[in-house]
Amino acid sequence: MFFRGLIATAADIETIRRIRNAGRMNMTGDVSEISPERQQRWWASVSELPPKDFVAVVYWSGDDAGSMCVGYGILSRRGDGRLYVSLAVDPTMRRTGAGRFIYEDLAMRANEPIYAEILKTNEPSIRAAIGAGFTQSGDSETTVFYRRQHKVRKERRG
Ligand SMILES: CC(C)(COP(=O)(O)OP(=O)(O)OC[C@H]1O[C@@H](n2cnc3c(N)ncnc32)[C@H](O)[C@@H]1OP(=O)(O)O)[C@@H](O)C(=O)NCCC(=O)NCCS
Repeated sequence: MFFRGLIATAADIETIRRIRNAGRMNMTGDVSEISPERQQRWWASVSELPPKDFVAVVYWSGDDAGSMCVGYGILSRRGDGRLYVSLAVDPTMRRTGAGRFIYEDLAMRANEPIYAEILKTNEPSIRAAIGAGFTQSGDSETTVFYRRQHKVRKERRG
């Protein structure tokens, strides 16, 4: 089985909405359903941002028999100037390594350190982030902050 990330386009926003709604209770205190209209407004507000400030990727998993969309990952710059990760995996595809793959893939796409703010109760996300090389950088009452250093890929000689 492989995982592959492709930059999201407008054609993916309904898929992202479905997976986002299915994972919302672990991501935010606001668990209200995101409507198609709200998702469209969100996409309109982010899709023109420069890639250094916003990247959305949809992830596919498959084998020789075919492939399916398993989740999404987003990098977005917050008011503190840092790039933060947001991700969710389709409930039917969790615990197959997709979450960890998404954290790793997003780190490789960034040219700077990236951060994750994770609810202290969200063990799957904490484990996936740690597995992808994130280390704790702080906490608040309800969340833990993780940071992944930017690793420069070394040119190989010869
Ligand atoms: C968090 C999330 C993306 C993880 O995705 P995933 O594909 O299940 O993660 P992985 O399969 O890569 O598993 C990562 C680690 O978490 C562990 N894990 C996964 N689900 C778990 C669960 N329900 N309970 C305990 N551990 C769990 C795995 O065993 C693995 O641990 P290991 O690396 O020590 O072996 C997924 O659970 C999800 O979409 N949750 C809802 C949305 C969300 O919480 N997003 C993150 C917001 S910060």
